[in-house]
Amino acid sequence: MANESWKIPMLVQELAAKVQEPPSRYVQPEQQHPVSLVVGAEKPEAIPVIDLSRLLAADGADEEGSKLRLALQSWGLFLIDNHGIETSLMDDLINASREFFHLPLEEKQKCSNLIDGKHYQVEGYGNDPVASKDQILDWLDRLHLRVEPEDERNLVHWPEHPNSFRALLHKYTLNCKRIKDRILWAMAKSLGLDEDYIVAQFSGKAPSFARFNYYPPCPRPDIVFGAKPHSDGGVLTILLMDKDVGGLQVLRDGVWHNVPTSPHRLLVNIGDFSEIMSNGIFKSPVHRVVTNMGKERISLAMFHGLDPEKEIEPATALLHEKQLARYRKIKAKVYLAGFYEHFCRGTRFIDSEDLREVA
Ligand code: OGA
Ligand code: NI
Repeated sequence: MANESWKIPMLVQELAAKVQEPPSRYVQPEQQHPVSLVVGAEKPEAIPVIDLSRLLAADGADEEGSKLRLALQSWGLFLIDNHGIETSLMDDLINASREFFHLPLEEKQKCSNLIDGKHYQVEGYGNDPVASKDQILDWLDRLHLRVEPEDERNLVHWPEHPNSFRALLHKYTLNCKRIKDRILWAMAKSLGLDEDYIVAQFSGKAPSFARFNYYPPCPRPDIVFGAKPHSDGGVLTILLMDKDVGGLQVLRDGVWHNVPTSPHRLLVNIGDFSEIMSNGIFKSPVHRVVTNMGKERISLAMFHGLDPEKEIEPATALLHEKQLARYRKIKAKVYLAGFYEHFCRGTRFIDSEDLREVA
């Protein structure tokens, strides 16, 4: 049988503790080096901020809704204030996940994403998928858990230590669901669609995933990415960033912008499904994470997806003679298969010809 050990690289945390130089599998080709790319650092532009409590208030909703539309047209993301999640819940959950990542390897491997130590599956603790020998790897480990539908949770992958972890994640998930629905109402409204249009695409089978990203310190932030450039696949991502360590960057009009740390705010970005539904009015932002030489970084991305059998297509109400559909209709599961294939190569399915509706 062919040697397929390349499919299961060492955990980056283990690697980082051992090596002075990142192995070649982690090193980006020269033209992609994080430092050789432009970052709009001299004149940083502020990431838009939306006040969630105003978004649905009797007073101020229209103004906040226009801000949201502008933010999603030009950045594809925004920070939110007044989201209603207790700051202690955010801190406790991140601290619990930090505790998990700091446990001995054998303990963490109880939540492994490998079946019998060798067959990769999407849920659990470990690496991102590796599709080919020459794939350039990211400097992170992750714990990836399906949190919704609730009755499809696979608790075998959920850490038992620290013992507060499961309850905290459950509580946080419910909060994200509430926030997600509010934002989706406001998004639909700001497009001139029926307020329920996007929320109605979700069924009881729509999955949400919590992805805890652990970026160990990296000896060469100049040539290695924490997370290579990508956009997210689903409808909406709610990101809880490390309070103290930055690293996230977003591409806008060809320039990379730093997303500064912003304690207790949440970063909301749309995914490719929303770009398709909005027929390209909203942009699913390309983003990446740079590493840090001295400090570890933790983030929690909550991805809200759609039922795998759901067909995704531009909203008909947005189409007319002068505004034809820019994307083909596609089933969520077919989209995600293409998404992962491209993700591993560092490209985007949404940019590919396979998805373009030819006029
Ligand atoms: C992701 C992601 C950003 C971050 O998990 O898809 O883009 O700040 N994370 O870790
Ligand atoms: Ni992402």
